[in-house]
Amino acid sequence: MAPEIFFKNISKKYPSGTEALKGVNLEVNKGELFSLLGPNGAGKSTLVKIATTLIKKDSGEFLIGERNPDHDPKSIRQYIGVALQDNELDPSENAESLLRFQGRLFGLSKAQAMQRADELIHTFEIDAERTKKSHTLSGGNKRRLHCALALVHKPRLLFLDEPTTGMDPEARDRFWQTISRLNKKEGVTVFLTTQYLEEADKHATQMAMIMEGAIRYVGSVKNFKQRVNAEKHGTLEESYLAYVKQTQEHEAMFV
Ligand SMILES: Nc1ncnc2c1ncn2[C@@H]1O[C@H](COP(=O)(O)OP(=O)(O)O)[C@@H](O)[C@H]1O
Ligand SMILES: [Mg+2]
Repeated sequence: MAPEIFFKNISKKYPSGTEALKGVNLEVNKGELFSLLGPNGAGKSTLVKIATTLIKKDSGEFLIGERNPDHDPKSIRQYIGVALQDNELDPSENAESLLRFQGRLFGLSKAQAMQRADELIHTFEIDAERTKKSHTLSGGNKRRLHCALALVHKPRLLFLDEPTTGMDPEARDRFWQTISRLNKKEGVTVFLTTQYLEEADKHATQMAMIMEGAIRYVGSVKNFKQRVNAEKHGTLEESYLAYVKQTQEHEAMFV
C-alpha cells in the first residue's frame, strides 16, 4: 500500500537564511496516528506547512494521499484537514458562522453546512461558545474550533500542529477522545506535533524525532523508548529527554 504521506529529501531555507529543513525523508501509512516530536525551532511547523501546501519547499519531492503538490496542490487541499499552530480566526465571527462559512467554501449546501456546523460544535463540545465572537474564546476553545474547522469536509488525513496548547487537562482529555475515535473508528490518518509528550506516548504508535531540520529517528514509539532507555517501563518523556541530552553531548564532542 502506498504511504499516505511521503517526503523525500525535503529542504527549506527561509529568506532570513535559516535552514529549517535539511533533506527530510519520512513516510506515514494510512490509518496511523503519527507524532512528529522535537525541540522548539526544529522544523516541525515548517514541515506541516509544506505538506499542506501553505509554503513551498526548496527541493525534494512529496506526495500526500498519492497526490503531487507540484501538479495538483488544489486536490491536496481538498483531501486534507489542517489545524495550524499559529492560525488566526476572524475575530468578528463566531464559532457557528465560521464553521458554516468553511462548509460553504468546501462546496456544502446551506443546509448541509448548518448541519455539519452543529455536528462539529457538538463533537468538540463548544456549544456554550457557539455564538461568542472568536476573539473572546479561551486559548483551549480556540484550538478546538480550529480542529473543528479542519474537519468540516470530512478529510481522511488530518494535520494537527500542537493542537492542545492552552487546553486544561480535562479539555485535553476530551479532545483526545474525539481525535482517537476519528482515528480508530473512522480510520482517519493523523499527523500530530505536540509538546506534550504524554499525549504522543498515549495515542501515537509511530513517531519521528526531528532536530535542527534533520530527522533523527523514525519508527514505533515503543522502539524509541527501548533504544534510548534501558528502563523498560519509562515514559516517552524520559526517553525523549535522555535522547536530546545524548545527542547534545555527542555533538559537543565534535565542536
Ligand atoms: N517565516 C519564517 N521566516 C524565517 N524563519 C522562520 C520562519 N518560520 C520559522 N522559521 C525558523 O525556522 C526554524 C524552524 O521553525 P519551525 O518550523 O516553526 O519549528 P518548530 O515548529 O519545530 O518549533 C526556526 O529556526 C524558526 O525560527
Ligand atoms: Mg511549531
